[in-house]
Amino acid sequence: MSFLVRKAKQLDVSDLAKAWYDMSLEIWRKHKCPIYKPKPKEEFVKAASEIFSRKLRSNKYLIFVAIENGTLAGFVVARVDHYVPSVFVQEKLIYVEKLFVAKRARRKGVGSVLMEKILSEAKKKHVRIVYLSTEIDDRNLAFYGKLGFERYQYKLMKMIK
Ligand SMILES: CC(C)(COP(=O)(O)OP(=O)(O)OC[C@H]1O[C@@H](n2cnc3c(N)ncnc32)[C@H](O)[C@@H]1OP(=O)(O)O)[C@@H](O)C(=O)NCCC(=O)NCCS
Repeated sequence: MSFLVRKAKQLDVSDLAKAWYDMSLEIWRKHKCPIYKPKPKEEFVKAASEIFSRKLRSNKYLIFVAIENGTLAGFVVARVDHYVPSVFVQEKLIYVEKLFVAKRARRKGVGSVLMEKILSEAKKKHVRIVYLSTEIDDRNLAFYGKLGFERYQYKLMKMIK
């Protein structure tokens, strides 16, 4: 498969919003985490388009898309962050908010190339830490492990009855 990876543009907003919906539905069906239960598609896509549009206008965000045969095959959204800079020494971090590859394009290196883009931006910007949170399963651990990510924290959740 041949695909290209480039910076996202305002023209990509609607495809990005639809892909985020697909991603959310997949994660919801798999893990049933009530925090991430998506709204109905139309409502989700409308609001998601506004979110992407805003992020694309902000210089805090790095958004890349992978295109295969003119169609969106995947995307990554990351944010250049400062974690309470008034008290912590670490100046800049990059937090990867979302990474998604369409089912039809998986296992062909698309996800890795998208993440490599973020890692190379980190190098360019002299950012030493790239971090993210993800569902813990064999695939994600294998994927991020291969890129050199290590587990350093757990998210905990309690359902109140
Ligand atoms: C996780 C995800 C981004 C991987 O994208 P991808 O383009 O398929 O990944 P790549 O082809 O670059 O895979 C790189 C390596 O990751 C590992 N990997 C990827 N998918 C895997 C799977 N299903 N099972 C086991 N290992 C897997 C392999 O080591 C693979 O290398 P290999 O193919 O040479 O063995 C994609 O499956 C996805 O979008 N999932 C749904 C959304 C999601 O969970 N996002 C991540 C959490 S935010």
